[in-house]
Amino acid sequence: MKYQSEIERRRTFAIISHPDAGKTTLTEKLLLFGGAIQTAGAVKSNKIKKYATSDFMEIERQRGISVATSVMTFEYKGTLINLLDTPGHKDFAEDTYRTLTAVDSVILVIDSVNGVEEQTRRLMEVCRMRDTPVIVFINKLDRDGKNRFDLLEEIEKELKISLHPMTWPINSGKEFKGVYDLFDKDLLLFTPNTKASEEDALRISDLRTPLLDEKIGEKDAAILREDIELVEGVHGELNVNDYLAGKVAPLFFGSAINNFGVKELLETFIRIAPSPQCRPTSEREVCPGDEKLSGFVFKIHANLDPKHRDRIAFMRVCSGKFERNKYYHHVRLDKEIRFSNPYSFLARQKDIISEAYPGDVVGLFDTGNFKIGDTLTEGDRFYFTGIPSFSPEIFKEVVNKDPMKTKQLEKGLLQLTDEGVAQLFTQFGGNKKIIGCVGELQFEVIQYRLLHEYGASLQFNTLPFYKACWITSSDPQKLHEFTRFKSANIANDKDGHLVYLAQSEWFLNTERNNNPEIEFHFTSEIHKEAV
Ligand code: G4P
Repeated sequence: MKYQSEIERRRTFAIISHPDAGKTTLTEKLLLFGGAIQTAGAVKSNKIKKYATSDFMEIERQRGISVATSVMTFEYKGTLINLLDTPGHKDFAEDTYRTLTAVDSVILVIDSVNGVEEQTRRLMEVCRMRDTPVIVFINKLDRDGKNRFDLLEEIEKELKISLHPMTWPINSGKEFKGVYDLFDKDLLLFTPNTKASEEDALRISDLRTPLLDEKIGEKDAAILREDIELVEGVHGELNVNDYLAGKVAPLFFGSAINNFGVKELLETFIRIAPSPQCRPTSEREVCPGDEKLSGFVFKIHANLDPKHRDRIAFMRVCSGKFERNKYYHHVRLDKEIRFSNPYSFLARQKDIISEAYPGDVVGLFDTGNFKIGDTLTEGDRFYFTGIPSFSPEIFKEVVNKDPMKTKQLEKGLLQLTDEGVAQLFTQFGGNKKIIGCVGELQFEVIQYRLLHEYGASLQFNTLPFYKACWITSSDPQKLHEFTRFKSANIANDKDGHLVYLAQSEWFLNTERNNNPEIEFHFTSEIHKEAV
């Protein structure tokens, strides 16, 4: 395998959670361990969620549109860790889903008080689609949370994944005394507001020792012994292959804000989390050790300075070595491009790099060549699959308020939708432009950006659709008849593919039942082959 040692020492992952579960706090603690930041409070990426839209724009602007925090690269004990940031706000969920296509594993944070929440469920669905290995961190043990066994049952049932406890808590809230590390056989004692350190770990290879009673009290010691017997009896040793196959999730308990239980999580992560993995393409599976470079764009960041339309495309390197100033093949455009200033994201700065390896993310300066999902190769003509567009959930018609700026509006809409901010549809047989998003906030972002970056003003009229389904059929005649008959609900996506816009689940089911020869797809992936 080429560049074997570079590949094996890399771990590319994302932390995901329902907002407020503690993703930012955990990110920060991991960065502190990796020496990438020196003080707490340095990672502000998720704070947007607490502000109104106008503040959102302002904050995005001030922090240089989060380029620096989009990817955080740090080293821990010789392992090079690429942590890909995902937006905290639920309206940007699609951005998160796409980022998940660029990672090899995830850490899922769950609030011990709230348990499984809406976003937790959706994010796990995306992980399950790709069998992404998941480690679960149950956070906020310093607060009175749910009963630990009930919580386990809830997570396993709701997220459809088996859990394998790696640490086990002793109480929660005011009575929280620490965690027992089932792997290292260490008892880690908790004192609020003080950092747990290695010295606080007490090695207890045999839980029967009276030292346990002395440290946590007889009652809790008895409960812990019982719990551990039960947990070990049920789960035994962790089967790492089951974790790597996305079937079993190692489970940790802790309190991110107190930096408690985080080190155990990180140690296990670097031990078992997968190094860069092979990925499917339109032609064959591409593996990190393959000689030639390949990679795909999973995120595009605009420059919010209205005077500069340049953008940064984030490419995940999948095979070979990326080199500065070398010509690469842009598969969709069938064009050779080179990059004189590619960025890497060490610590929190952008640094110009001269090479990158599989698992790394490079920031490519872009003047409009890239769309989400684009592939770069060393001449090969394949493209990476599995980077679908999901159905939007809110649909609005675009009404141009300034006919003098029609061109600007169209250009802006095309560029913003290339960035993946929203999806653009054109009503069948007409010119009505429809924007589909996951959340309301995105419409405000689009309106703001079109005005400030393109000088175009528009109004949105809400449309009564709830889902877009890409439609195909092996019988062209039937497809033609269906689109003609249902023309008010048919649109073309940006690539010209047919989409059925359903008013409700009932309508969708009715159409599916009435038209068995038409296939309804919930992602655009089906059309990749045709690109
Ligand atoms: P997010 O990125 O998942 O949205 O969550 P974030 O880390 O911003 O944490 C959400 C809130 O939960 C924050 O409080 C944070 O301090 C708190 N928190 C994180 N970990 C723990 C923990 O282990 N125990 C307790 N008790 N709280 C925790 P906030 O008041 O919303 O924000 P801030 O003012 O503290 O920044």
